[in-house]
Amino acid sequence: MRSRRKWWVAVHAESRFLRSGKVRDLYRIDDERLLLVASDRLSAFDVVLPTPIADKGRVLTGLSRFWFAETADIVPNHLLGADPADLPAELVADEAAGADLRGRMMIGRLAEVLPVECVVRGYLSGSGWKEYLATGEICGVPLPAGLRESDRLPGPIFTPAWKAPAGQHDENIPFGRVAELVGPDLAARVRDASLALYGRGAEVSLRAGVILADTKFEFGTLPSGELILIDEVMTPDSSRFWEAAAYEPGRAQASYDKQFVRDWLEAQPWPKTAPGPELPDDVVAGTRARYVEAFERITGASFARYLQEDVIAR
Ligand SMILES: Nc1ncnc2c1ncn2[C@@H]1O[C@H](COP(=O)(O)OP(=O)(O)O)[C@@H](O)[C@H]1O
Ligand SMILES: [Mg+2]
Repeated sequence: MRSRRKWWVAVHAESRFLRSGKVRDLYRIDDERLLLVASDRLSAFDVVLPTPIADKGRVLTGLSRFWFAETADIVPNHLLGADPADLPAELVADEAAGADLRGRMMIGRLAEVLPVECVVRGYLSGSGWKEYLATGEICGVPLPAGLRESDRLPGPIFTPAWKAPAGQHDENIPFGRVAELVGPDLAARVRDASLALYGRGAEVSLRAGVILADTKFEFGTLPSGELILIDEVMTPDSSRFWEAAAYEPGRAQASYDKQFVRDWLEAQPWPKTAPGPELPDDVVAGTRARYVEAFERITGASFARYLQEDVIAR
């Protein structure tokens, strides 16, 4: 895979590079710690667009840091720090790179990643809606007949997916398959933790007028066997956020963050395969504004202050 690495890590630290995902670049700090850097890359229709959305990575990292703090009583997580000054000096290229890392980086506990995407749905949408239409259930969880697209479910449900190797699509699986993949004990623990995390997230979001329709968690284990929450948590990239005031079941809902750019893309003569088109300045600005608004509404904190002081506070 072509690397999309940025210049924030010193060239002589190449050997520490682990991998680039669609959004994050990962570096090994030592045997126990990992540097996760959220880039400003935006993917839409499964294509990473050539135009970055300034500070999007900071929105994702800031929201994850907020949720890690908000949910630490439910399950321990990988977050160890977020200060570039805590990185080994040889990892940071120079002062400018340190400044660029600020707000978008996390130091995480290096975990063995469980091969399961822990999805929780409170509403009927996306692949869940498709599966319900075809079978009346999602991941083996039976649901009442007659539900409409985007309907609120009788209660949140755990609908795991198997993490397919790169290039393949993740596959919805029943809980029994999770038990086979990670063992029945861990399977029950990630299910219970996921449902509790979603419950907390949905409650906090709704207070801000935002519906957390569904979200995806990732878990890992430490050499000690401890189970921890990893990756990013309840961000616009891992979740469907809907405007509560505009919620109307019976149709698809506009996604809080990306609808703006999706609408523009839909109007372009573009076949939705890579490479995507460059975004005009007003589309970049509008998309950035939605991400920043998501951060501010959900956390109740000022994004400008997050940028300046690296704190999540009013
Ligand atoms: N604490 C951790 N230990 C090991 N791997 C992690 C940890 N936290 C996140 N990851 C991995 O880092 C990657 C995050 O990069 P991302 O761009 O989101 O990738 P993807 O395109 O696979 O979603 C994911 O593969 C995730 O499983
Ligand atoms: Mg990811």
